[in-house]
Amino acid sequence: MMTEKRENWGSRFGFLMAAAGSAVGLGNIWRFPYLTGMNGGGAFIIIYLGCVALVGLCIMTAEFAVGRRSGLAAVGAYKSVSDRWSFAGALGVLSGFFIMGFYPVVGGWSLAYIAKSFTGLLAAPEAIGDAFGAFITNPVEPLVWMVIYLAINVVIVAKGIQSGIEAAGKVMMPLLYVILIAIIFRTVSLPGGGEGLKFLFTPDFSKVTGQTFLAALGQAFFSLSLGMGCMITYGSYLSKDEKLPQNALIVTTMDTSVALLAAVAIFPALFAFGVEPTAGPGLVFVVIPQVFAQMGGFGVIFSALFFLLLFIAALTSSVSLLEVVVAYLIDQQKMPRKKAVYITSAIMAVMCILASLSLGVMSGFTIFGVGFFDFFDILTDKIFLAIGGGLLAIFVGFFMKKEDLKDELTNGGTISFGAFEVWYNLTKYVIPLVIAWIAFAGITAIQQKSLMIFGLAVIAVFAIFSKKL
Ligand code: PFF
Repeated sequence: MMTEKRENWGSRFGFLMAAAGSAVGLGNIWRFPYLTGMNGGGAFIIIYLGCVALVGLCIMTAEFAVGRRSGLAAVGAYKSVSDRWSFAGALGVLSGFFIMGFYPVVGGWSLAYIAKSFTGLLAAPEAIGDAFGAFITNPVEPLVWMVIYLAINVVIVAKGIQSGIEAAGKVMMPLLYVILIAIIFRTVSLPGGGEGLKFLFTPDFSKVTGQTFLAALGQAFFSLSLGMGCMITYGSYLSKDEKLPQNALIVTTMDTSVALLAAVAIFPALFAFGVEPTAGPGLVFVVIPQVFAQMGGFGVIFSALFFLLLFIAALTSSVSLLEVVVAYLIDQQKMPRKKAVYITSAIMAVMCILASLSLGVMSGFTIFGVGFFDFFDILTDKIFLAIGGGLLAIFVGFFMKKEDLKDELTNGGTISFGAFEVWYNLTKYVIPLVIAWIAFAGITAIQQKSLMIFGLAVIAVFAIFSKKL
């Protein structure tokens, strides 16, 4: 069979927009502000920044190095060093697959809410909560939006790296910054908004517990798209003269800046309208439209812009998730790109239908004690990603040759990477221990014990059959 030539990114800017696009997603705009609200504001932000700088930056550098060294996506990259380790890559592919079992559902909601902003959503602020409940439990409407959302992903990923993912990132990421800054200008100037900024930037360490550290570290992983081979895959399309540590620093900074900007956009609005910052998961779809409804004339525009922002952020992340699976099928199964995209997304659509229906008509149907939506979410978010990240750190530290890593990170000795020893020792010794602690504490705190056992069993089966993957 003819195999397609493996593409590279067309430009450095294009790669950076695509990688930052992957990182910036629902994790930044929806999850980060709500976690900050629930964990003491400024104190959480300081701990989060520490986690990003210590763990996130090192793992991203490592993923780029592993990907570019092998020139292959997750499974192939591990396999090129040791057959035994291909299971860690396969676990990443499975994580990407499962995250795509619910991410497009929420992506579809964001699309729907762009439209709903113009069609009367804001007219009755007191009914916004009920309207959201009615929308997500409807058996048809969210499915239509999900299919539209997934179809947009299909079109982008089917076009390939340069004219698909890279082109989309180059347009959408700058647009995302523009919209975010426009919203900040509006919300920061609201009367009473200053209180929100004070909450964000005055740390209250009395609220900090061990759980706060766990939440911060877990969030750093999810937000930076680490622990499932996504940045390995994106790194595999990088040319040999790109400076990996510098690119990792830029992507990490962009992701963190969007999380901080999203918090700066949202908190003044919450405080100005007397909404509790601890409102939790309903924050984006219920509280934000309520806030904009009270804003008068321009509320509709700001609401539509906000959901456009959420849609763009989600889209550039979900294309990376789809690409992780597609790249595996291209590299390891020698499948043509388009075929890989169509097959993969068809299965994802079925999973998303189950996930969406599990919030409504199928709410009584559970597997391992949870509905399909939570099954895909908890399994990846709480079990697979942390373990995937820990495995990567161990693989890099103990199974790759130190001189190979140095060679890759210094482009064959042509550029300097002064912090190499610090990076190497952190990745090899400190990070596996930190992640082991999080994984242990996080997994044992999960209420759905049978789901946890299932997740660990999947990992064990993968490890046993690693040579076949
Ligand atoms: N980083 C994305 C977010 O913050 O929403 C989610 C994500 C994308 C996680 C890609 C993992 C991944 F490989």
